[in-house]
Amino acid sequence: MPAGGFVVGDGQKAYPGKLTPFVLFTCVVAAMGGLIFGYDIGISGGVTSMPSFLKRFFPSVYRKQQEDASTNQYCQYDSPTLTMFTSSLYLAALISSLVASTVTRKFGRRLSMLFGGILFCAGALINGFAKHVWMLIVGRILLGFGIGFANQAVPLYLSEMAPYKYRGALNIGFQLSITIGILVAEVLNYFFAKIKGGWGWRLSLGGAVVPALIITIGSLVLPDTPNSMIERGQHEEAKTKLRRIRGVDDVSQEFDDLVAASKESQSIEHPWRNLLRRKYRPHLTMAVMIPFFQQLTGINVIMFYAPVLFNTIGFTTDASLMSAVVTGSVNVAATLVSIYGVDRWGRRFLFLEGGTQMLICQAVVAACIGAKFGVDGTPGELPKWYAIVVVTFICIYVAGFAWSWGPLGWLVPSEIFPLEIRSAAQSITVSVNMIFTFIIAQIFLTMLCHLKFGLFLVFAFFVVVMSIFVYIFLPETKGIPIEEMGQVWRSHWYWSRFVEDGEYGNALEMGKSSNQAGTKHV
Ligand code: BGC
Repeated sequence: MPAGGFVVGDGQKAYPGKLTPFVLFTCVVAAMGGLIFGYDIGISGGVTSMPSFLKRFFPSVYRKQQEDASTNQYCQYDSPTLTMFTSSLYLAALISSLVASTVTRKFGRRLSMLFGGILFCAGALINGFAKHVWMLIVGRILLGFGIGFANQAVPLYLSEMAPYKYRGALNIGFQLSITIGILVAEVLNYFFAKIKGGWGWRLSLGGAVVPALIITIGSLVLPDTPNSMIERGQHEEAKTKLRRIRGVDDVSQEFDDLVAASKESQSIEHPWRNLLRRKYRPHLTMAVMIPFFQQLTGINVIMFYAPVLFNTIGFTTDASLMSAVVTGSVNVAATLVSIYGVDRWGRRFLFLEGGTQMLICQAVVAACIGAKFGVDGTPGELPKWYAIVVVTFICIYVAGFAWSWGPLGWLVPSEIFPLEIRSAAQSITVSVNMIFTFIIAQIFLTMLCHLKFGLFLVFAFFVVVMSIFVYIFLPETKGIPIEEMGQVWRSHWYWSRFVEDGEYGNALEMGKSSNQAGTKHV
């Protein structure tokens, strides 16, 4: 009989616990950490297509844009400083997520969220008051630091807080607020762009203070997760908190398992080096491949540059911001579908369905743009039906992403890592996500300029590869308690050879104390 937790029919554990108002509240507040990330993603594309902003900070791009539409449209936005503006944030986020790993592990998840909020606030203010390009870039670096902290801590926080049966849905609250942040930013851009005098961009950029304050204040009122409290030796408080979170008195089974997981985790001196051990190979692979593939769907080409892209294919500035609002709404709505389905249909189903949908859309969009713009990028007159077809397929593509790789790209990593590597592995996930977001942001405009419509085919190719990867290598994690995840690797046809019986996670499941199970030092 395993120590802690009772075993349900299929050999998996089930802990008592309800979806209490308390856990719901804490998860909703914590999930708002996604707002700062989303707001930023949504705001930069719109701002960089506002003529007054371009004229002031990026005059050469502005001049190119004013030139006759008969010139090569694929290349009008190709400017190194403009791309640097967009992507500097992601490099900063990458660095800070590594620092956040230590803060999250040693001082708790909420302190990282608090740092995230404060840094983001500072960045937003500098951007809102920017007078020179360097101020814009410094501001964005601070925003990036904030995002690195928040994205490292929030998904972990949610996965640890949630009762395991609702973990998927509650965790996707993070992605939902990312999408809401994107949409709000796009709507604001739409209106701010109309402000006479052309200073609307200041409101767009400075407006980031609002989501920053939400997460700053939120993190002050939130409790830390029981897992993190135990990890820091606060056992009694953790037990009381666990009772409150789960809404039942008898939490001893889950509590004992958390303590055992924590003991195992304490014996690890070098969480980073530890990640390289053979038994963590499946986790490390997923920590790297999932965010890599998430970015290789090409979603951020749409998210950052939707207005630019719509502009390129012939919409006016106003109409292109409006189209971005349309894609933003689809993004939010489709995320709700994922919240509904993730704990019912499972992660694998959503990954594979979403992948197929994205693939079809990418092929259609590439064909449409190719047919109209050819290879020299001169479209001539664009009929209305054409614009409608392109926007429709872009929306179906966004929906596919929003119920698959979008939320699952954050959910799956945060739920598969055992406690002893959780913080470090999550930092790897955030860093890989940021570096590829950065690379794509950096090279997209140049790629559009050179590859033209073929760009969409490159992403389509990766969608095929990632779907095959999920089909072969990703086990289903639906409905499995987070500290019990070891079993999914042990019963996997490929990963079982790395995660042997008697190794990872067995301390919990075989009822041994973690000391007996013996986690070796590296
Ligand atoms: C991704 C972002 C993306 C967003 C779109 C997130 O999960 O990490 O890169 O822009 O989804 O909704």
